[in-house]
Amino acid sequence: MTAHRASRGGIHDSHGKRPSPVPAKGLPHVSAQPPHLTYPVQRTTVTDPPEEYTRLQKEAPVCPITLATGFPALFVTAYDDVKTVLSDPRFSRDALFEPGAPRAQLAEPDQDSIISIDPPRHSRLRGLINREFGRRRVEGMRPEIERHVAELLDEMETKGPPGDLNDMLGRPLALRVICNLLGVPYSDHTKFGRWCDHFMSYAKYPLAEVGRANSEMRTYLADLIETKRQTPGEDLLSALVQARDSEGALTENELVSLGVILLLAGHDTTVTALGGGVITLLRNPEALAELRSDPALIPRAIDEILRLNEPGDGSFLRIATEDVELRGGRVAAGSAVVASISTADRDPSVFPDPERFDIHRESNPHIAFGFGTHFCVGSSLARVELESALGALLPRFPDLGLAVPFEDLRWRSYAHLGGIEELPVRW
Ligand code: HEM
Repeated sequence: MTAHRASRGGIHDSHGKRPSPVPAKGLPHVSAQPPHLTYPVQRTTVTDPPEEYTRLQKEAPVCPITLATGFPALFVTAYDDVKTVLSDPRFSRDALFEPGAPRAQLAEPDQDSIISIDPPRHSRLRGLINREFGRRRVEGMRPEIERHVAELLDEMETKGPPGDLNDMLGRPLALRVICNLLGVPYSDHTKFGRWCDHFMSYAKYPLAEVGRANSEMRTYLADLIETKRQTPGEDLLSALVQARDSEGALTENELVSLGVILLLAGHDTTVTALGGGVITLLRNPEALAELRSDPALIPRAIDEILRLNEPGDGSFLRIATEDVELRGGRVAAGSAVVASISTADRDPSVFPDPERFDIHRESNPHIAFGFGTHFCVGSSLARVELESALGALLPRFPDLGLAVPFEDLRWRSYAHLGGIEELPVRW
C-alpha cells in the first residue's frame, strides 16, 4: 500500500502553464542594464564552458542575464565572488519559495529537499546523512566499488569495441553504488535516467511532462519507503525510516526528498566527471602516460579532472536577501543569482594558465563540489568511484581511444547538471 503519495516538488501550476517571468512584488529587477545573455549558453565542446562566460569573468563579473525560464538574474563568475554566493547566508535558497520568486528551471524547486533549504532546517537534514558519506565510511566501501568496476570492465571486454563508456562503466557503476547504499533495487535503474533528465532540465520538456516524471519518481520512493518500514534492511533508506518513526527526526516529505536527491545527484554527476576525465586524459597523452606509469598520481589528477569537468556550469539558484557588495559588483536585495562554478574554477587569478590540464598544479583549491552550506555530501564517495574506475580502466585498456571525432561529442546544455550525451570509445 502507498502510505504517502508525495506531491511536492511538482510544477508551477496545475494547468501546466509556464511561470510568469515577472518579479514578485517587493523583489526589485536585478539590474537596469540589459541582460548580457540567456543562460545557459550552448557549449560548443563537451569539455569547455562557453567562451562568453570567460569573457564575462573579465569584463562583467556580476552581470545581468535572462534565465531559460525568462526570469532575470545575475551571473557571478569570479572565484571569490562565487564562493561568497555559495556560502554567505545572505544568499538564500529558502527565499525561492517567496511568492513570485524567480525560477531557473520549469520544475518547481522541492520545498522539502536538502538542496533547496537554508539552515537551521538544512543542518538538521544534513546531520542525518553526513556520517553515512564520511570519509571513513566510504573507504569501507572501496573494495565493493572496486569489485563493481572489475565486473563492468570484464563485461566491456567480453562485449568488445566500440561502446558507450557512460553506459558500460560510468552510469552502471554510480547507480550500483548509490542503489546499494540507499537500498534501492538496481533492477529499476532504467527509470532513474529518465526521471533525472526531467528533474534536471531547465526548460526542455513541457511543464506537464516534468510534473508527471517528478510525481512518478516520488511515488516510487514513497512506496519503497513504505516497504522498508514493513521490512527494514541494512541500508540508508531503512535507517532514515527508523530515524523518522522512532525519533521524529524528519517528516515523510523530507524523507522522500532525501531519497530523490541522493538517487539523482548520486549518479549523474559522477558519470559526467568520469566521462570528462577520460576525454581530458585522451587529449593529454603525456599526463595519461604519466598516470599509467605512476598510478599514485591518480587522486591528484582527479582534482584537476574535477576542476575542468564540473557537471553543469552554475550552482542552484540563490536569492539575495539583502544588498551585498561583491568584488565584481553590487547585488541588490531580491536578485536571483547563478554562481558559475565552472567559470570560477578557471579564474586565472587563482589557477595560473587555467585551461591547461596540469596534474602537478601546486595548489588546486577547486570548488567542483561546491562550497559552504550545500557542499557536496557525496564528495568522498565520488572520489573513491573515480579513483577505482580510472585506476582499473587505464592499465587494462592501453589502447583506449575515442571512437568518434572529439567534435562530434554532444553536451546536454538543457540540463542543470549538463553531461556528455554519449561517449563512444574503442580499445
Ligand atoms: C563528481 C561527482 C560530483 C560532483 C562534481 C558534485 C557536485 C556538487 C555540487 C557543486 C553541489 C553543490 C550545489 C550548490 O551549492 O548549488 C553538490 C551538492 C550535493 N551533492 Fe554532489 N556532486 C558529485 C557527486 C555526488 C554524489 C556521488 C552524491 C550522493 C551520494 C551527491 C549528493 C549531493 C547532495 C545530496 C548535495 C546537496 C547537499 C546539501 O544541500 O547539503 N553528489 N554536489
